[in-house]
Amino acid sequence: MDIFEAIEKRHSYRGPFTDQPVPRQDLTKIVQAALLAPSGKNCQTTRFVIIDDPELITRISPMHDTNLAMQQAKAYIACIIDTNPEPVYEGMSFAVEDCAIAVQNMLLAITGLGYAAVWIDGWLRVESRARKIADILSIPKEKTVRIILPIGVPAEQKTQPPKKQFNERAWFNKYGDR
Ligand SMILES: Cc1cc2nc3c(=O)[nH]c(=O)nc-3n(C[C@H](O)[C@H](O)[C@H](O)COP(=O)(O)O)c2cc1C
Repeated sequence: MDIFEAIEKRHSYRGPFTDQPVPRQDLTKIVQAALLAPSGKNCQTTRFVIIDDPELITRISPMHDTNLAMQQAKAYIACIIDTNPEPVYEGMSFAVEDCAIAVQNMLLAITGLGYAAVWIDGWLRVESRARKIADILSIPKEKTVRIILPIGVPAEQKTQPPKKQFNERAWFNKYGDR
């Protein structure tokens, strides 16, 4: 799939998945796309746990009470950063940004391979859900599950919600120029 087609087709999928599994070969390809993402000072801070063990999946899938993709995922990718990231440049850490750009690479790879996913982030940060998932995955306390992606073959066709027009958000040379 052409890169611009993947950008347009990518959408946050919260619907049902078919029973089709996501083979390790594809999961590896998806995470390989994350490993190739840029990162602040090339520190490559994000770590990944790919969850395809049915026993682990059955412990994570009931945790979300409304999101069908979370409930029916055939695999998850947990994206992990340091709980207290080290500054790497002028007192700044880029761990969250590193994680975000790695996730975007994965979302495009997921779309290109014919799967769907949704960026689960805010949900993880309430009711200690990130820690509960970390415990299931033997992730130490110094690490935090910052984003999790439920992955599968979408059973329903969905598209991105409408985005604002170019001239509402972008300008050449001068902010707000018409
Ligand atoms: C930083 C960030 C946090 C997000 N957190 C969640 C989340 O916790 N749960 C969820 O269902 N979607 C989450 N999303 C997905 C957004 O809701 C989604 O990107 C937005 O509605 C636009 O839809 P689209 O991705 O289909 O273009 C998150 C997206 C981003 C970038």
